[in-house]
Amino acid sequence: MKLQSLTGMRDLFEEDLKLFQKIEKSAQEILDFYGFRKIETPILEMSELFERGSGQSSEIVQKQMFSFRSKGGDFLSLRPDYTPSIMRAYFQHGMDVLPKPVNLWYSGSCFRYEKPQAGRYRQFYQLGIEVLGSESWITDTQVVYLFFKILETIGLNNLIIKINTIGDSQCRPYYKKTLSEYLRRRRNSLCADCKNRLKLNPLRVLDCKEEKCQVIKKEAPQLLNHLCGDCHKHFEKFLEGLDELSLPYNLDPYLVRGLDYYTRTVFEIFKENSEENIKQEINEKEEKEVNETKKQEEKETQIALGGGGRYDNLAKLFGWKETPAVGFGFGLDRIIGLIKKTEKKELKLPPVPRVFLAQVGELAKKKCLGLLEKFRKEKIRVAESLFRDSLGLQLKIADKLGVRYVLILGQKEVLEEKIIIRDMKTGKQAVVNLKKAIKEIKKPGR
Ligand code: HAM
Repeated sequence: MKLQSLTGMRDLFEEDLKLFQKIEKSAQEILDFYGFRKIETPILEMSELFERGSGQSSEIVQKQMFSFRSKGGDFLSLRPDYTPSIMRAYFQHGMDVLPKPVNLWYSGSCFRYEKPQAGRYRQFYQLGIEVLGSESWITDTQVVYLFFKILETIGLNNLIIKINTIGDSQCRPYYKKTLSEYLRRRRNSLCADCKNRLKLNPLRVLDCKEEKCQVIKKEAPQLLNHLCGDCHKHFEKFLEGLDELSLPYNLDPYLVRGLDYYTRTVFEIFKENSEENIKQEINEKEEKEVNETKKQEEKETQIALGGGGRYDNLAKLFGWKETPAVGFGFGLDRIIGLIKKTEKKELKLPPVPRVFLAQVGELAKKKCLGLLEKFRKEKIRVAESLFRDSLGLQLKIADKLGVRYVLILGQKEVLEEKIIIRDMKTGKQAVVNLKKAIKEIKKPGR
């Protein structure tokens, strides 16, 4: 059996890793300004935290947790998301006595046992915020603003935010009953999973991506028409706030989110799939290709770049003090996928090194170690292949890298304290004093 990374888990390096760091940096700059403090929680927690927090009827708890029993007999799980851990940490460290709201942000890996496909991994990365201690609609508006602003700052455009409210413990039970009755009458047309979801939580049916369930969903009663007075007011004010900030949003009356802890405001962000955007990107292609690209675009725009919402009852579920809260989480893997796709056309190659340091013989190899450091200090980008012995191969590599000057150090040169400079463009070579090599390379015109 070949040893390789597990399905849905990947190594991060080079371009992907750089993009991760770039996004984190941009997010941090914005979040610092708005008074957010970073928090990191353990990857492993007691399973109960997620089972009760995310909810028994959620797909995550039902099918997607990486759980096991520890040697000490505890049931543990790799975090599928951060939100329950943040709430735990908030109480564990007495943050509930701090002036409200408490603004926290995080960035790290989460784990869900999902079928890997485009934009869906088993180990994926979330960057998110949680604002704890405010029940006001204005906090929802501010959170959505930050959600949008961070993505906009890192250069994503044509984004659309889907918004809904799922009410609270006053109005949702009544709606659930109405929805349940509607779904039960159509039970035979639901997929097998939804028949089960109907028993546990009918709201989950609204989340189903199966075509036949989508058809049923289209006619289903909407929570918007069953909101209690307080939830209605909260939602109305929140929407006014979004309008004030001119944020691009669509109302999606069937957006319920996949986690049980949400109350009132929920939202997700997508890349907008407008005809104009597609045309702009592919206007030179043949019609057949256009259709293919459209299909692919449609698929990709269906996956959310991030999501969030209010979760006023999560603390109460664990017997902690009632704490209204709202937050969001981005999927960094998906954002990076999108950036790479849109930037592909002007993908930059790594900068060409100024020189290549080639060597022949053990003595020269050793001498190169110190020489490299001198170049670093002078901020001259050098490539090398010290582990190789063949000069021919080293020159080939220098050529492949597109390096103009190769410095060649052999046994004779070391002893004479000289070095050869070879111009790869003209093929001309010159011998210079080793001590003057850097000065020579820095000469104007070189
Ligand atoms: P979520 O919608 O489950 O919400 O996940 C947030 C984002 O994580 C998704 O929109 C998606 O971009 C990314 N994501 C989820 N699963 C995967 C996967 N298997 N592979 C790649 N990316 C994925 C939450 O997790 C909530 N805790 C967000 C939140 C914070 N709500 C309130 N505060």
